[in-house]
Amino acid sequence: MPKETARGRFIVFEGIDGAGKTTQIELLEDYLRGKGRTVFRTAEPTDGVTGKMLREALAGKVLRTACELAALFTLDRVTHNQDPENGIERHLREGADVICDRYYYSTLAYQGSETDLSWVRGMNLGCPEIRRPDLCIFLDLSPEESMERIRRGRTNFEIYETRDRLERVREQFHRVLAQLPQENIRILNAARSVDEIQSDIRKLVD
Ligand code: TYD
Repeated sequence: MPKETARGRFIVFEGIDGAGKTTQIELLEDYLRGKGRTVFRTAEPTDGVTGKMLREALAGKVLRTACELAALFTLDRVTHNQDPENGIERHLREGADVICDRYYYSTLAYQGSETDLSWVRGMNLGCPEIRRPDLCIFLDLSPEESMERIRRGRTNFEIYETRDRLERVREQFHRVLAQLPQENIRILNAARSVDEIQSDIRKLVD
């Protein structure tokens, strides 16, 4: 088989906090493994050095400006792509399908709504060491429903987990996704049952 066709597929899930990405990713992983595929599941922020700095900022323990956050998320993403051991590139090259929970669409939506969007876009889309996904699935949910889901699961909240901020981020997601016509992006209504959403996801991935 030529090397190119052996490469795995790179699938990204996006959505505001509480949209149900984790549940849907787990189900898709089971499905792909059941079909005999090798799957590498991963997420941003990562567990690496930069990812840890980001989690401290998200928890509100360290205050960071929007530009600092945009730069840190982008750095975390470059390392996530290129890390020789656990990087996205390596896994794709070895034939695994990579499923990633959040990617540059999140930086465009979250940080892009708080600082200069064209700067954030340029850093991410113009970076030769940040791969474009084969498919991006955006799970779309209202801020009311997502706050309700977040509240059910937790008592501590991260800096973006307020209704107003989620509203702004959701609007920004729609705006930035519409500005990427060359990409394979699908928007799914995430207010439906887990099974209905997963069935749509499997059709898209097939
Ligand atoms: P995530 O781990 O998906 O949230 P959860 O705590 O629900 O598992 O993401 C953590 C937060 O990071 C989330 O509020 C979105 C934010 N984020 C950005 O602001 N920019 C980014 O580029 C990424 C990847 C995440």
